[in-house]
Amino acid sequence: MAHIKPVANLEARKDAPEHATANRAMFDRIAPTYDFLNKLMSFGIDKRWRAKAIDRLSGKGGSVGPLLDLCAGTLDLSRMLESAFPGERVVACDFSAKMLELGKRKVANTERVVGDALALPFEQGAFGAVICGFGMRNLADLRRGVREVRRVLRPGGKFVTLELFAPKLFRTRALHAAALRNALPVIGAVVARDRDAYAYLAESMAGFVTRAQYEAILRQEGFEAVRATDLTLGVASIVCGEARP
Ligand SMILES: C[S@@+](CC[C@H](N)C(=O)[O-])C[C@H]1O[C@@H](n2cnc3c(N)ncnc32)[C@H](O)[C@@H]1O
Repeated sequence: MAHIKPVANLEARKDAPEHATANRAMFDRIAPTYDFLNKLMSFGIDKRWRAKAIDRLSGKGGSVGPLLDLCAGTLDLSRMLESAFPGERVVACDFSAKMLELGKRKVANTERVVGDALALPFEQGAFGAVICGFGMRNLADLRRGVREVRRVLRPGGKFVTLELFAPKLFRTRALHAAALRNALPVIGAVVARDRDAYAYLAESMAGFVTRAQYEAILRQEGFEAVRATDLTLGVASIVCGEARP
């Protein structure tokens, strides 16, 4: 299997089409073990992180929807959106049909759409809120992905990102990268029999932007009221913004 380079560096995005195909194939491959490994590697804490992210979507009353779960994977966030916002339309979009298929038993009314975050198959202003859990770091062109979210949100609509950003301090970053580089591929090899896919996931985390850089991109690409919260000593963070009218 071809080795895939880290993908979320801000600049070098020259091989996007190639990257997208390899990335989708990889997620199709790891789909059956994704949920299990997710829980294992986060010690189950991801559930609490997701609940906090969903909380950030609540408005001051009135309808927040329709809601888009972007890079929805196996639909954990979609399921939580359904129960947090009963009666709202929930749409889950992911470019891996396999991930969506495996998650479908978790949801009741969520509409599943196979689509690319870099060219979303939705109209301008179609959504009142967008949530993306652990998806943005996979995008071949982060800025373009943020612009697409802004396009499909109506003015004032909320965008909530739950993500594992690169640590800010060089020392922590080096430690983090080393731990990820060593542990993830081993776990992946044992549980999913796919060392390369998990080596890629480790690299994608190490190569991603810091939380502050991400906040700056949101502001530059049409979001205001950008705020962030660190979770579990900064292992994960939530970044929220509102689509500037
Ligand atoms: C790490 S998983 C996260 C899944 C889910 N949101 C969760 O919280 O568990 C990342 C997901 O992003 C999807 N993805 C990556 N790049 C994408 C793109 N360009 N367009 C749509 N989905 C993408 C993958 O197929 C995968 O399901």
